Amino acid sequence: MPLGRFGRDLETQLRDLDDAGTGKGAESVVVAVRPAQGGRGPRLLLDGQGDREFIRMNSNSYLGLTLDPELARAEESAAHAFGVGPGAVRFISGTYQPHVRLETALAQFHARPAAMVAGSAYTAVAGVLFSLSTPETALISDELNHNCIVNGMKLARAKLRKVYPHLNLQTLQSQLEECAGQCDSAIVITDGVFSMRGDHAPVDRILELVARYDGRFARGAVLIVDDSHGVGAFGATGRGTEEITGGRADVLVGTLGKAMGVNGGYICSDATVIRYLREKNPFYIYSNPIAPGEAAAALASLELIRGGARLLSHLREMTKRFRDGIKSLGYETIDGQHPVVPLLVRDTDRTRALVAFLRENGVLATGLNYPVVPKGEQLIRFQVSADHTASDIDEVLAVLARFRNR
Ligand SMILES: Cc1ncc(COP(=O)(O)O)c(C=O)c1O
Repeated sequence: MPLGRFGRDLETQLRDLDDAGTGKGAESVVVAVRPAQGGRGPRLLLDGQGDREFIRMNSNSYLGLTLDPELARAEESAAHAFGVGPGAVRFISGTYQPHVRLETALAQFHARPAAMVAGSAYTAVAGVLFSLSTPETALISDELNHNCIVNGMKLARAKLRKVYPHLNLQTLQSQLEECAGQCDSAIVITDGVFSMRGDHAPVDRILELVARYDGRFARGAVLIVDDSHGVGAFGATGRGTEEITGGRADVLVGTLGKAMGVNGGYICSDATVIRYLREKNPFYIYSNPIAPGEAAAALASLELIRGGARLLSHLREMTKRFRDGIKSLGYETIDGQHPVVPLLVRDTDRTRALVAFLRENGVLATGLNYPVVPKGEQLIRFQVSADHTASDIDEVLAVLARFRNR
């Protein structure tokens, strides 16, 4: 049945997106991945682009583990042993040995008493916010937090919802002060690493503030950190923003789908919180877990990361080479060590032109324009990976140099 006025209204909205230039548009389809060879990292072939090869500078697979043969072997062997899908939600008959082993390993990795695997980091965050909040809770969030936090806050029951300017702890403190008289509990939530800019939250200082206000709420105050971009890729041993800052979240959310190279999310906390979430979190109770093969691959990934000082040090070296390189070409960036390296263009048309130029020259990078980022902060987000070689980085820098000298 044609959708009539309803469908026409959607068409109008889509046309508006196209006219404003803010639509995501057609997706690039990867038709082949050519493995690393001869001092070069992997190259992608895209549908409609013939034999042209692309260097990927827009993947979250910061350690290059999506293509790791050990992970593929672990996934395949678990799929043969347990099946390619879970067949049910966890509490019915969908809990397999790889899920449990992975949860034990994640808890150990983050030095927490307990962990649980989630379908994705997105649903992990939404589920934690939904399950831990009550109609008397204050939810307080950084303005640049990921969309899963923004929507998780809408879904959660809360008395007050507050958003503080990016990294502004003074405002966070006044919001805690204001909520203390009105709510019985406070949940402060922040990204660890902010994915658009590669900067990070001072988890240690935020924790200190939350601890200071804990006694002012009848049910206490807690800190949730979503470190999806930090875990695996940040800190001397890949423990993420907590390792960089020395702070420690009450509830830590991570993803298996970025540095770990697989798919799915997880939550680490103390045993009571995890048990409570297994009983109360609808995203966990009523939705299938990741496949046993994905859990086995993630476990193999975690083992590689634990013994993977070499991977991390190569990632840091390539990140520094790229960041220093774009600075010496006269481009503006944000200092830091995270492999998200923003190139601030500060203009929508020029951002689009540079992304197109990079693509014409075999480099995939993501342009972020208003309204995804504030006006004046338009940027190109480059993501360095441990499967980039020095010659890959230099090749991308050479393209950026040509754009500058046009
Ligand atoms: C902070 C943050 N949380 C969650 C997610 C979503 O991760 P997942 O793909 O595991 O749902 C992202 C992805 O970009 C993210 O940046």
